[in-house]
Amino acid sequence: MSGEERLPVVYQINGRRLETTVRPGDRLLRVLRGLGEHSVKYGCDTGECGACTVLVDGEPILACLYPAIRADGKAITTVAALGHPDALDPLQAAFLAHGAVQCGYCTPAMLLAARALLARDPAADTAAIRTALAGVLCRCTGYVKPVEAIAAYVASGAEPAAATTPAPPEGRPALRSPAPRPGG
Ligand code: FES
Ligand code: FES
Repeated sequence: MSGEERLPVVYQINGRRLETTVRPGDRLLRVLRGLGEHSVKYGCDTGECGACTVLVDGEPILACLYPAIRADGKAITTVAALGHPDALDPLQAAFLAHGAVQCGYCTPAMLLAARALLARDPAADTAAIRTALAGVLCRCTGYVKPVEAIAAYVASGAEPAAATTPAPPEGRPALRSPAPRPGG
């Protein structure tokens, strides 16, 4: 298979259907950033830092390792789906209120990892929160304030401002690739 060959894919990025083409060896991080999704951070590019975390069909994955072709037909959620400066998601607001954002480079990944946790365990305790954040390297906060922010959000009983697990595009199967899930 030629390295220049391009394969058609259909993504649903934050609820928006998008058709594009990818090379067989492309990883999702570079494809998303090439599509303008710059909230997905480029860190180590080797699966170590977690900064590139996005949700694929609601599950956190490392986009720098995840094959772009494997996301065909799937729903991709970036931090842009949570809220925006004029209408923050309550979890984002909790991060700000608790001083959990310093340089901010890890923050999109932390928020998405937390959202994935809370989708399956809305009453997550501190231990579960720490486990959920363990894959995201933060050089600034020591994790104390992000954990406090998420715990405070859980205690508040607030609801998400936006869905973080949009349905796959119509007419496309949720799973199209038998490949393993590196970084998943
Ligand atoms: S960029 Fe560091 S884990 Fe993906
Ligand atoms: S806030 Fe700077 S890396 Fe986490």
